[in-house]
Amino acid sequence: MSLPTLEDLLRSGVRGARVFVRADLNVPLRGGQVADDTRIRASIPTLERLAGAGARIAVASHLGRPRGERRPEFSLAPVAPLLAQHLGRPVAFSDDCVGPEADKAVASLREGEVVLLENLRFHPGEEANDEDFARSLARRADAYVNDAFGTAHRAHASTVGMVRFVERVAAGLLVLREVEHLRAVLEPRRPLLCILGGAKVSDKLGVLHALVERADAIAVGGAMAYTFLLALGHRVGNSRVEPDRVEDARRILERAEALGRDLLLPVDHRIARELTPDARVEVAEEIPEGFVGGDIGPRTEKRFAARAREVATLFWNGPMGVFELPPFAEGTRAVALAVAESPAHTVVGGGDSVAAVHRMGVADRITHLSTGGGASLEFIEGRTLPALAALER
Ligand code: 3PG
Repeated sequence: MSLPTLEDLLRSGVRGARVFVRADLNVPLRGGQVADDTRIRASIPTLERLAGAGARIAVASHLGRPRGERRPEFSLAPVAPLLAQHLGRPVAFSDDCVGPEADKAVASLREGEVVLLENLRFHPGEEANDEDFARSLARRADAYVNDAFGTAHRAHASTVGMVRFVERVAAGLLVLREVEHLRAVLEPRRPLLCILGGAKVSDKLGVLHALVERADAIAVGGAMAYTFLLALGHRVGNSRVEPDRVEDARRILERAEALGRDLLLPVDHRIARELTPDARVEVAEEIPEGFVGGDIGPRTEKRFAARAREVATLFWNGPMGVFELPPFAEGTRAVALAVAESPAHTVVGGGDSVAAVHRMGVADRITHLSTGGGASLEFIEGRTLPALAALER
């Protein structure tokens, strides 16, 4: 895969050119305020380079899933001041991403100036990858830069459809950095350990099937581990399981065994009668009836951490327990620490895992924190991400 780069675009000259930047500013909002600005900060280097080179920049993004309707709670307006603050330049806001409002906003930009366009997904044409909508996005663009790695697995008008209607296109610095670090997981120095967590096996089936072929070891935590344990005949009490995925779990276990891969499952659990913020937690190897598993246990933490010390490449996605509840946050914290202490090339993807790394204060000890959840999983699965393929045309 060879992507056209931002540097190539800058070399061809962008002074005075209208550059459409597709960023992923899909940030969590709480009470109308940005609750985590990681993705805003991650988009700055590309915007800085373009602004410094005298481009006239229109930044576009989606936020949440407003399903093609203009819904004020999904407005990108609260993002504009933060973008301005991190960029150290004023950022105007346009109430629409197409039409006369956007035309006016872009026409009035001077060299080095930036406008943030309103949520792309207020228009149904965005997710439908509608050709007319794609054309109207492209109409005001002399060049197109995709820096929205978190959305690279979506074939939408702003990520795929409009690309062929713009003459000069490039991947932004964030996209290039993500691809470089995730490629190190796809073509790893061995041994490769992947730690996967989260609630559902069904969400991670694709990546589990792919990794069992390629990873030397896979450690599974989170509620999805209970479906695997059930497949092996363990007692999981009233824990959350996916009965219709037990057969898939069994097949993955058999394949791992046939290939000689280590599939590490929890050997103990933090359990309680209910998963509540003040739950009375016990540690158990088997989960009795009337109890629910909420987190991996201390012996499992040690096992996962020991493996993390022995590998050359490590990828982690997904929490080990219900880590938003303090009694069940230990396992995820322990894994965050183990990843930070690992001598491996470490990549962490997914909102919850990245949040855990920040909360533990170890972000600077991870080789790469991915801004993509689904996108990073699809990448290491070896799938072609539509937005990257569109740039390679
Ligand atoms: C993400 O947060 O994973 C990306 O911004 C994509 O969002 P989506 O899952 O709503 O397409």
